[in-house]
Amino acid sequence: MIVDVALGSRSYPIHIAPELLTSAAPLLGPLAPRGRLAVVTDTRVAALHLPAFAQSLAAAGLAVDEIVVPAGEASKDWATLAQVSERLLSLGVERGDVVVALGGGVIGDLVGFAAAILRRGCGFVQVPTTLLAQVDSSVGGKTAINTASGKNLVGAFHQPRLVLVDPRVLATLPERELRAGYAEVVKYGLIDDADFFDWCEANAAAVLAGDPAALTRAIATSCRAKARVVAADERETGDIRALLNLGHTFGHAYEAEAGYSDTLLHGEAVALGMALAFDVSAARGLCPAEDAARVRAHLLAAGFRLSPAEFGIAASPATLIHHMRQDKKMQAGTLPFILARGIGKAFVARDVPLAAIEAFLGTVR
Ligand code: NAD
Ligand code: GLY
Repeated sequence: MIVDVALGSRSYPIHIAPELLTSAAPLLGPLAPRGRLAVVTDTRVAALHLPAFAQSLAAAGLAVDEIVVPAGEASKDWATLAQVSERLLSLGVERGDVVVALGGGVIGDLVGFAAAILRRGCGFVQVPTTLLAQVDSSVGGKTAINTASGKNLVGAFHQPRLVLVDPRVLATLPERELRAGYAEVVKYGLIDDADFFDWCEANAAAVLAGDPAALTRAIATSCRAKARVVAADERETGDIRALLNLGHTFGHAYEAEAGYSDTLLHGEAVALGMALAFDVSAARGLCPAEDAARVRAHLLAAGFRLSPAEFGIAASPATLIHHMRQDKKMQAGTLPFILARGIGKAFVARDVPLAAIEAFLGTVR
């Protein structure tokens, strides 16, 4: 299955197919004019999937240079960016080459940014290996590292040349990571596709059990939705791409409180944030209370914890608002919130005072 991201001269295809990890050479070969590919991955993915990927490329006559960084969010930092960039330069990677990012969102964001700045920009290919990366972070060209001032604060828009999604690699993903990625799948239904949310309600168990057909349908529908949004608003200059932040403003506040650690994974924070976005929409009379209840019920049925206390987070509303004020989207003291008029009817609200959100958060158990 191929989903196209239509961006004029920066257009690229997303290929989705089982076993693509070991049959990627015909797609990668034409992007490697020197017959060499640098593949950057993390220690966990290197142990599980790099040998099969590299061997299949070598068998097709492509030389592979491997760069392995420690697994985990901490690798999205200046030091690792410098190490990866220096290594790519020492390997002689040229502007006309592509660098392959094999891994989850951490690797995709780090390698995408390294590619954006290497020799003022070389190509890169995303080979996402987490559900979150397959349905969200590998598509759309947002790349970044974290700094002492916060998450994703230094980065660039830099579109990949190709995205290769092999749902089979998810078989080795821990259940908690799979569920975290599923939050981003549900997000597409909640934004503008009520029928897909119905499908999620009926098929979440199959997706989370790793059923190949259900996973492939979830990934393909998500990639199509993301491709549509990115084609319409590549650099988030309008309100279209901003909708992808449903649940993220609340979620980021809790993630910041948890120190962006394994205490609360990004997708878990998004699930919690989406439930809160629907609750606040209902509390403000924008959305039927039964829709908010349905969202919460589905996320609970999918195994998400929707109370901050369940993650050991006991931040006061004032502290959470403090975290929200650091948001990149903050403009003249106000923050856009993605709220909803119902399931599949998300919109950008620019008129919600932070004081009202603080009062609402005071009611969250
Ligand atoms: P991650 O890359 O840290 O992967 C999670 C864990 O799973 C890691 O330990 C990794 O080694 C392991 N892993 C990866 N693939 C595996 C596999 N197939 N089997 C077993 N283990 C595997 O985290 P993530 O959740 O994929 O991504 C989170 C990052 O993505 C965050 O930094 C976030 O900011 C970023 N993000 C970016 C965008 C974007 O648009 N660029 C969107 C959403 C999130
Ligand atoms: N994950 C949000 C975006 O790509 O815009």
